[in-house]
Amino acid sequence: MDHYAVFGNPVKHSRSPWIHTQFAAQTGAELDYRAQEVAAEQFEQQVLAFFGRGGAGLNITVPFKEQAHDLAQVLSDAARVAGAVNTLYQDDDGRLVGDNTDGVGMLRDILQNGGVLRQRRILVVGAGGAVRGVLPNLLAEQPAELLILNRTADRASALADRFRDLGPVRGGGYDLLTNSPATAPFDWIINGTSVGLSGGLPPLPASVVAPHTWSYDMVYGPGQTAFQQWCVDNAAARALDGLGMLVEQAAEAFFLWRGVRPQTAPVIAALRQELAVG
Ligand code: ATR
Repeated sequence: MDHYAVFGNPVKHSRSPWIHTQFAAQTGAELDYRAQEVAAEQFEQQVLAFFGRGGAGLNITVPFKEQAHDLAQVLSDAARVAGAVNTLYQDDDGRLVGDNTDGVGMLRDILQNGGVLRQRRILVVGAGGAVRGVLPNLLAEQPAELLILNRTADRASALADRFRDLGPVRGGGYDLLTNSPATAPFDWIINGTSVGLSGGLPPLPASVVAPHTWSYDMVYGPGQTAFQQWCVDNAAARALDGLGMLVEQAAEAFFLWRGVRPQTAPVIAALRQELAVG
């Protein structure tokens, strides 16, 4: 029996144990996957103890992704670029490897839904850890333009500076929309703020949305998120939520750990059903 866990705080509402149990059933794997709440000052010790006991792999969630990055002895390119780690395991030499599957998870979900980013104008809202993790994957799709807007303008411009080598990215405060000529609706609007967790909306004018606009909310809920609803109300073509990203990033971690790629579509559908019935 292989042991896995997700470390976070809070973590009790994590869907990761449920998702990985579905993957295990699908692939005939014998595994035990738990959610473990870890005190901030105990994070490093608990990670080392987990692998010391023979644990096979960890997922890392809020607020430990940066600490996991610092703790890992080997980093994947994705983890290094993002400055954050959501997946840990040991290599054949017993070194702790840190990877980040959030970006690839989101991209896979977008592509599987038929989304196209190449040569598109993308608006990314928010400039926290969630956005930083997906920017390299978005830019790798070669958009025509990627604009990051954030309440704290400096965080958005710092992110744009950090990723400038990867593509045509700019960043700043929401006033960039009103003060620049680039106010035409965007092809994509990606919400990476946490404002939706309290039911709020990022402060965007409706003029950024048009009937050809696709949107992606990095969070999800039992029904449509407030941001999805706002996009639909403003006649967006498609409004996706982050449930697919959650399952896809988990599938990528499962693949890193076990070398087997589970099917995500049935798990996304089943999780959607689970959420709907509460
Ligand atoms: P995460 O790691 O989940 O991205 P974070 O680093 O705390 O979390 O980032 C949260 C994001 O949501 C930030 O972009 C934050 O804006 P600031 O950088 O200005 O704090 C954004 N956010 C949170 N509450 C917001 C609100 N009420 N209005 C606008 N943006 C908000």
